[in-house]
Amino acid sequence: MFITLEGPEGSGKSSQLPELAAFLRGAGYEVIVTREPGGTAVGDQIRDVLMKMENVSIVPRTEILLFLAARAQHVEELIRPALAEGKVVLCDRYGDSTLAYQGYGHATDLETLRLLLDFATGGLRPDLTLLLDVPVSKGMARKRENDSEWNRLDAYTEAFHERVRQGYLSLAAAEPDRWQIIDASQTKQTVQDEMRAAVLSRLQG
Ligand code: TYD
Repeated sequence: MFITLEGPEGSGKSSQLPELAAFLRGAGYEVIVTREPGGTAVGDQIRDVLMKMENVSIVPRTEILLFLAARAQHVEELIRPALAEGKVVLCDRYGDSTLAYQGYGHATDLETLRLLLDFATGGLRPDLTLLLDVPVSKGMARKRENDSEWNRLDAYTEAFHERVRQGYLSLAAAEPDRWQIIDASQTKQTVQDEMRAAVLSRLQG
């Protein structure tokens, strides 16, 4: 079962993920936790290029291809083999981040992105995607408070992040069977409980 977590900045996905994994392991599932960009040695090197504040000269097409290059490596080296062994793969961001950030955020044509995504992933799509939705102002404030890692991509404008959030909501509305929207402005425990319920119902259903 391939489960992805998506959300705008400061939605708290990354801090919820280890707890969700521990819960699922306790329930008897074999779980792999991974993230994008990254997840493999090659992917982590690509991540460094994408995140470094000094790389301000990266143009949009380069950015897209780097995200996709990291993803191609990730799918083939880690995700597909784990799924073939019957594991639950929990991935912090995946293809929908490209549609939300590069597509809706930077106004890159969505159909072109979908073709590129299919090429990079060999058509691998998540079984379930949790959207941790949070208003942009709240998410950005949280990010400033909690996160020492401030990267090149966080520095985009608030209007950009608003387009990303609305993009996620559009993607979720278009494919309601795959997406589960969770209100991430609730308490950490409530968000965790809703994530567990959504994942368990999919795993058992
Ligand atoms: P990260 O530090 O992992 O942030 P977060 O905790 O918000 O997940 O940074 C990932 C950044 O990369 C984030 O700003 C979203 C962006 N991103 C894209 O723009 N496109 C993509 O395809 C992916 C995977 C991430």
